[in-house]
Amino acid sequence: MTLDRILQSQGFGTRRYCGDLIGAGLVEVNGALCEDPREQFEVDGLRLTVDGEEWIGHSKAYLVLNKPVGYECSQRPRHHPSVYNLLPVPLRQRDVQAVGRLDQDTTGLLLLSDDGQFIHAQTSPKKKVPKIYEVTTAEPVTQAQVEALLAGVKLDDEPAPIAAAGCEATGEHSLRLSLTEGKYHQVKRMVAAAGNHVAALHRSAIGALVLEPTLAPGEWRWLTADELAALTRKE
Ligand code: URA
Repeated sequence: MTLDRILQSQGFGTRRYCGDLIGAGLVEVNGALCEDPREQFEVDGLRLTVDGEEWIGHSKAYLVLNKPVGYECSQRPRHHPSVYNLLPVPLRQRDVQAVGRLDQDTTGLLLLSDDGQFIHAQTSPKKKVPKIYEVTTAEPVTQAQVEALLAGVKLDDEPAPIAAAGCEATGEHSLRLSLTEGKYHQVKRMVAAAGNHVAALHRSAIGALVLEPTLAPGEWRWLTADELAALTRKE
């Protein structure tokens, strides 16, 4: 792909603007100045410096973000800042979207991508990817509540009871819950239906992808090729 199109694809602006940046001598490729917008390169793995900003080329964006409390998973947030404000401008400009949503008061693992097929596949209920939630409860957890969550609880707008794929008490006021669907406020509604109340909610894993403690709240990183392969593997 030509360098001007590559910069455009990475979210650095229109093709003309990117051509101007290149012509102005503001773009380095693999450590060397490149002033020709028509020069061709492979996108993936390309080491770019664009007006001082270092950037690695990715033809599609697959990201993991540790969502902090008090952020909305919306492009047009109403009451809190948007998670998209936590991403650098080029990723916002290339239209990266959250893969499903977490509530503003939920923390933890959020995937984002600009690959529509990936987003669709990951959010499809057919895929049955387990999502692991660490729940802090308002009331002490009882064995009856754990059993109810595993057996299935009735939610208002659902015809049949919904069961957790896994549930265990992890402390007097905490539960680990595994869900394969992603219905609206599902954890909060299921825990309420079981007779308790969610005081705090954190997503710790999606399938084999576990949120590592070194990724601080508000930080993001690219998924590795192995992580992406594990998430997209066909059963
Ligand atoms: N279930 C909820 O209730 N909230 C979330 O943010 C995610 C799952």
